Amino acid sequence: AEVIIVPDAPTAGSIVADELVRLIRRRPDAVLGLATGSSPLPVYDALRERIEGVDVSRVRGFALDEYVGLDAAHPESYRSVITREVVEPLGLDPRLIRTPDGSLDGIATAGEEYEAAIAEAGGIDAQILGIGTDGHIGFNEPGSSFASRTRVKTLTRQTREDNARFFESIDDVPMHCITQGLGTILRARSLVLLAFGEGKADAVAGAIEGPVSASLPGSAIQLHEHVTVVVDEAAASRLR
Ligand code: F6R
Repeated sequence: AEVIIVPDAPTAGSIVADELVRLIRRRPDAVLGLATGSSPLPVYDALRERIEGVDVSRVRGFALDEYVGLDAAHPESYRSVITREVVEPLGLDPRLIRTPDGSLDGIATAGEEYEAAIAEAGGIDAQILGIGTDGHIGFNEPGSSFASRTRVKTLTRQTREDNARFFESIDDVPMHCITQGLGTILRARSLVLLAFGEGKADAVAGAIEGPVSASLPGSAIQLHEHVTVVVDEAAASRLR
C-alpha cells in the first residue's frame, strides 16, 4: 500500500477528494464504493467544495454495508446517512446510488442481488474504506473469509460499543448487518483506506504490516495491488 501520513483529517479529505474528482472527470459514470461512519466524512466535505462544475449526473455508488432490521427511514440507517452526507450535498442521482437491503423481508436475497448489481455496473472503481478498532473493513468482523461476498454478519460487541455514539444507547445498535464481503472489496479497482486517531493505530498497523489474517480483516488490503492508506500521525503511530 501507499501510505500517506497527513497532519489532520481535512488534509486527508482534500487528497482523496482530488483523486475522486480526477476519476469522475475521466469517467463521468464512475462507480464509487461509499463507506459510512466518521472516517470518510472529510472526503465528502472536501468533495462538496470541489464538485461545482463537475458533471456528477451519471456517477454511480454502492454503500459498503447496512444495518439489518433498522428501518431505511431511521436517521442512522446507512441509506439515510449516505443520502444525507453524500447524495444530497453532492447532488448525485439517488437512483444511481445503492445500499444493501437490510430489511427483514429482503434479507434472504439481498446479498446476491447486491453482488449482481455491482457486477452489472462493471465493478467498483474506487472503494473508500474506514477500519474498525477490531480491524474490520466493511462490517467484515474478525474471522471473515477473504473470499466472502455480500452477506449478513453479526456485529461484535466492540463494534456495537463503538457505534453506540450514533444511537441513544448500545441497546439500539442493531445486532446484525449486511456487508460487502472481503472478496467483494478486493475486486474493486482501487481501495482508499482512511483512519484517524490513536484508537485506530493497532488496526492500521495490523492491516498494513500484517500478518495477512482473517483475525484482522483489514489485512486483506495487502492482497490488493492498488491501495492508498491515508492516516493522521496518531493512527500511524504503531507503524514500524
Ligand atoms: C462503514 C464501515 C465500517 C467503518 C468502521 C470505522 O460503512 O463499513 O467499516 O468504516 O467501523 O468507522 P469510523 O470511521 O466511524 O471510525
